[in-house]
Amino acid sequence: MTSLALEVVGVGRRFGGLVALRDVTFSVAEGEIVGLIGPNGAGKSTLFEIISGNMPPSHGAIRYFGADVTGKAAYLRRRDGLCRTFQKVRLFETMTVEQNVRVAASQCLPSGRSLASEVDDMLQQFHLGDLRHRKPSELTLADRKRVEIARAVAGACRLLMLDESLSGLTHDEAHRLVSEIILLNKSRGITVVIVEHVLSVLAAMVQRLVVLHNATIVAMGTPTEIANNPLVIEAYLGSQGGALT
Ligand SMILES: Nc1ncnc2c1ncn2[C@@H]1O[C@H](COP(=O)(O)OP(=O)(O)O)[C@@H](O)[C@H]1O
Ligand SMILES: [Mg+2]
Repeated sequence: MTSLALEVVGVGRRFGGLVALRDVTFSVAEGEIVGLIGPNGAGKSTLFEIISGNMPPSHGAIRYFGADVTGKAAYLRRRDGLCRTFQKVRLFETMTVEQNVRVAASQCLPSGRSLASEVDDMLQQFHLGDLRHRKPSELTLADRKRVEIARAVAGACRLLMLDESLSGLTHDEAHRLVSEIILLNKSRGITVVIVEHVLSVLAAMVQRLVVLHNATIVAMGTPTEIANNPLVIEAYLGSQGGALT
């Protein structure tokens, strides 16, 4: 039986009178790559905040590899390998690329693993070796996103949540980063949940898509199923539908 990396169970979240999430339930199997799509304001980033432990849900529970982590602090989830990036890249601008990755790796390094080799592995995996002594402000957006993903993954990552890590990139940059994410998934067995708007890019990497609309899940399925789902086409895809097939 495949084990579940993530179970989101009946999650709701209110901000005062605004319902940002309503009864959201889905799961992600270990080793899967799942895309989370939906229009701006649908609740995608809020869901990432709740899964990572930065924000409590108003209702519901989060299970991570079978354990209920709903009340667990974000840094403890991170230490256990529940990793995420932010929609707006967050880096230490006064540190070098290498220092940025080292700080992140040092906070959640599995015992017995050398910090220097983990940092080197991450820099190599994301093709950042030549940029290791640069400051983030000297990098392209694509490389800044790479550094952020390397920081998220460094250490013992088991579940990686990427919030619009491909947005703002050129077609070629996005495809290169997609290959690197697929490689992470294959080489380290990391489960991935990715928020992304460019559906043709997502279709090339995910096994399943979860569609959020107006704070709730309106569809789940393979990219082809989603592209042909009339409700999704009406709610979200519009003319992009063809890009998924
Ligand atoms: N910290 C917050 N306080 C109040 N409202 C928020 C907060 N975070 C998100 N929201 C609101 O929740 C809704 C969902 O936002 P968000 O999760 O950022 O959507 P998405 O990432 O899908 O674009 C939006 O209406 C947004 O304004
Ligand atoms: Mg968002």
